[in-house]
Amino acid sequence: MSVLPVQLTAAQPGWTVRADVIVVGSGVAGLTTALHARRAGLSVLLVTKATVNEGSTQWAQGGIAAALAEDDSPAEHLEDTLVAGVGLCDEEAVRVLVTEGPGAVRGLMLLGARFDTDSGGAIALSREGGHHRDRIAHAGGDATGAEISRALVQAVARDAGIELVENALALDLITDAQGAAQGITLHVMGQGQRDGVGAALAPQVVLATGGFGQVFRQTTNPYVSTGDGVGLALRAGADIADVEFVQFHPTVMWLGPFAQGQQPLVSEAVRGEGAFLIDSAGDRFMAKVHEMADLAPRDVVAKAIMRRIRESGTDHVWLDGRALGADTWVRRFPTILESCRSRGIDPVTDLIPVGPAQHYVSGGVLTDLHGRTSIPGLYACGEVACTGVHGANRLASNSLLEGLVFAGRIGARMAAHPGVVREPILPEHDGQRLLAHQARRRVQKTMDTHVGVLRSEHSLELATKELSALASSEEGRPSTEDWETTNIHTLASVVTHHAALRTETRGSHWREDYPMLDDEHWRLRLVTNLNSDGTLRTRKVSRSGAAYEDEG
Ligand code: SIN
Repeated sequence: MSVLPVQLTAAQPGWTVRADVIVVGSGVAGLTTALHARRAGLSVLLVTKATVNEGSTQWAQGGIAAALAEDDSPAEHLEDTLVAGVGLCDEEAVRVLVTEGPGAVRGLMLLGARFDTDSGGAIALSREGGHHRDRIAHAGGDATGAEISRALVQAVARDAGIELVENALALDLITDAQGAAQGITLHVMGQGQRDGVGAALAPQVVLATGGFGQVFRQTTNPYVSTGDGVGLALRAGADIADVEFVQFHPTVMWLGPFAQGQQPLVSEAVRGEGAFLIDSAGDRFMAKVHEMADLAPRDVVAKAIMRRIRESGTDHVWLDGRALGADTWVRRFPTILESCRSRGIDPVTDLIPVGPAQHYVSGGVLTDLHGRTSIPGLYACGEVACTGVHGANRLASNSLLEGLVFAGRIGARMAAHPGVVREPILPEHDGQRLLAHQARRRVQKTMDTHVGVLRSEHSLELATKELSALASSEEGRPSTEDWETTNIHTLASVVTHHAALRTETRGSHWREDYPMLDDEHWRLRLVTNLNSDGTLRTRKVSRSGAAYEDEG
């Protein structure tokens, strides 16, 4: 197995900035946490790697799930979430999510987010895979993330107590002698006095950096999703859990075998409106696979597609949305319509070629019900976190909701326990061996080929060998590309390690050599820490109830 770096920072910080709270990331989780911290009167430094709206939130299509309809209830939302999570959800965390969810969505509307409404003026709710009720609120048809982002960015901009720093890559956690968070080292580009590596100091640090889709060659995630938050937390000694549960979205537009990077999503909501999958022979195969047919949970649909692709020797299946008609496409799915047409496919008259591609990571930095991690003063929120609400497979449209709900809880916790400012221990030594950016494509190819939808002992052994060899390939230098590549390689190594250990098939983790669910041995979670020599230490723990301590 690869030896991983325990520190990235290569230089003594050249500048320092202080706040009560540092929030890293500007998607729904980061922006909402910043706003909640302000409500508690805390000053916030909000840092983001690119510009404020370049993360995954902006790209979310389907919407945000919450029991808002009269014929729905948090109990039913809970049940659907637990079923999708295949026995690995933390039920208490799910209860928090579904109970506090409707209020969190209404709070977002009070901030100015405009959801689509029906003819009576009520929020229009649609359906996606795994949901037994219409409970997906959407905006701009299929531009929900962009609308949520717009409303939150405007609210943040109105608040003089939030300082936004763009083009700022978080490197490592800064702690005090007690091991509690006291800030982060940060690399900032093009910001005058704050250029280069500096120290952002605060006794409360919230990671909201999103996922790590760029670990794979084909993903729906934008280019910024390189796992910087999970990498930082791992190097700091935090508990990392459930990262083997990488979700592959079933209907990503197929652009050919050589396509790489961010791929165009075709939302589940299109199937919610009546579109269906067919194979190359025109067979509607999902009806034979699951009682919910094309609206089965996401892992079931992705696996069924992969089976069809293998059996038929093709490289994709088709989504047939022709019956929706031009009006529905224009009104409900303007973004997807444009995305298809710009590639020469008119979904009003043509089939859309689709297949699974990486979309989401259910695991991440392990937190308790207040977003606390195993490091005092360090919180995690959104996709970077493992709150336990997703288990082995996230239910569609629960991710924006998770960011909203747990941001509120983190804000409340930080208000009650504002943290203790102590002397920070700044990095003195050179950072460790970085990986040159030339390795990035090779890591991604390795992960797509050996640690994708289908995994086996053999494929995982090959991946482990290739990742170890890459660890000693060309040495990088302190730069954004090489720090990101190092994070990508680190995350690839942890995912592969977990996937090799979990000898069963569950949710989005599919082992060809262990095709059955094994509740007797595996109804538990894998939690990993980084040893000081750069090796990984993994333990099996009960799936519920992480509980961590406060400072102050
Ligand atoms: C989609 O619109 O299909 C994606 C929704 C999600 O990932 O929750």
